[in-house]
Amino acid sequence: MDRPFQKIAVIGQGYVGLPLALLFVNKGHTVYGVDVDPKKIEGLRQGVSYLPDVQDEELRWSLATERYHPTDRYEKVAEADAIIICVPTPLNASHSPDLTILEKAVVEIGKFLQKGQMVILESSTYPGTTREVLQPLLEKESGLTAGIDFHIGYSPERIDPGNKDYKVEQIPKIVSGLTATCVESAQALYSSVFDKVVRVSSPDVAELTKLLENSHRLINISFMNEIAAICDKMNIDVWEVIEAAQTKPFGFTAYYPGPGIGGHCIPVDPLYLQWKAQKFGTESKFIQLSDEINRSIPSYIMNRVKAILAKQSAPEHASILLYGVAYKKDINDVRESPALDLIHLLAEAEFSVSYHDPFIPEIQVNGQRYTSVEIDEDTLRSADCVIIFTDHSVIPLDQIIAHAPLVFDTRNATAGVQDKHHVYRMGAGK
Ligand SMILES: NC(=O)c1ccc[n+]([C@@H]2O[C@H](COP(=O)([O-])OP(=O)(O)OC[C@H]3O[C@@H](n4cnc5c(N)ncnc54)[C@H](O)[C@@H]3O)[C@@H](O)[C@H]2O)c1
Repeated sequence: MDRPFQKIAVIGQGYVGLPLALLFVNKGHTVYGVDVDPKKIEGLRQGVSYLPDVQDEELRWSLATERYHPTDRYEKVAEADAIIICVPTPLNASHSPDLTILEKAVVEIGKFLQKGQMVILESSTYPGTTREVLQPLLEKESGLTAGIDFHIGYSPERIDPGNKDYKVEQIPKIVSGLTATCVESAQALYSSVFDKVVRVSSPDVAELTKLLENSHRLINISFMNEIAAICDKMNIDVWEVIEAAQTKPFGFTAYYPGPGIGGHCIPVDPLYLQWKAQKFGTESKFIQLSDEINRSIPSYIMNRVKAILAKQSAPEHASILLYGVAYKKDINDVRESPALDLIHLLAEAEFSVSYHDPFIPEIQVNGQRYTSVEIDEDTLRSADCVIIFTDHSVIPLDQIIAHAPLVFDTRNATAGVQDKHHVYRMGAGK
């Protein structure tokens, strides 16, 4: 039932799906970029990228090849040789996996599924999803049998938005399949675009690999945030300690404190693992604790800033300006950004809050709209405290230090600044 992978349907044209679709186009494939958001599709058709990592020129080049077709029509799935699913896998209100978006997408795919096609899930999810959710839904909708009439597999997406050191195709691609032929097929598909493909024995292994990677980051960064809080009390500079520790050539890997972990992956994926572990009557205490620590960081920052302001006899309803609200540098993503929790807490404590982010013109926090303010001498002088939340590469550090009356830096962006009594770094005490 094998067919050459000339035409690919990539379902979801977001942070993951769009760069992947353009990579396949770049390597000579025809791609249908399917997304349910008509505004997104229209923008892509006009050659206007909404992702900092995807330049308009790259998008326009892809459109000009006439091999990239952004569309909101699932019918195109019927024409593809392979269908790759990159839709969101969020948490619900009780912090459990919410697969409703994925299920809807799979039902649509099932309606158009053809014999001989390959379906690959790339969304991050708990072990078992490919076999327990994807396979039965596809079989029910299509009347076809996985492993016999069509191939099915899982290949975790490992893209790191904003990372300029690794292009998508340079990140080794883990592939798996329901049967030996499914995995062969997945390997053939991805070998045509990725520098290195790593085969694993089952979709469950591939699913857990992704969750392990992200749980490992959540746990280690949360640990560093705990150490940062200890260093604040002890008046020791955590950043200097980490720098010294990493001179050891083996046995130590540096992770850094910060204002909390955000994004659609690292705070979310470990809870998918925790949920599935609980179905087996077990759990990860590390994930539980790290999640708690991570969620507590915005209130830790607020309390530190409050204490510093109180020492300086600042007015009761002091004004606080956040530099950056993106969850990490050089991206325009605020999903799960702890900046939103921090703004909420500060507003609740009756601080007057504003923000500047060069990539994010507006945000909503608990139903309230905030728009990014201009950053200039006047705005900086009129804030009682500037919190450096995101260390975007374009941060005007000298200007902030020169004009803000007080700076609280959560990213060690001001590390090189000497003898400035109004500059505080998280985890550095004083
Ligand atoms: N963002 C990352 O850095 C990253 C990295 C690795 C893995 N992942 C995983 O990849 C998956 C996608 O994440 P993302 O960041 O690209 O999300 P995203 O929100 O940026 O993009 C998802 C896209 O899917 C579209 N969509 C929603 N429902 C759809 C449907 N039924 N049919 C077609 N399109 C639909 C949305 O309109 C959106 O454009 C998630 O499981 C995430 O955990 C994300």
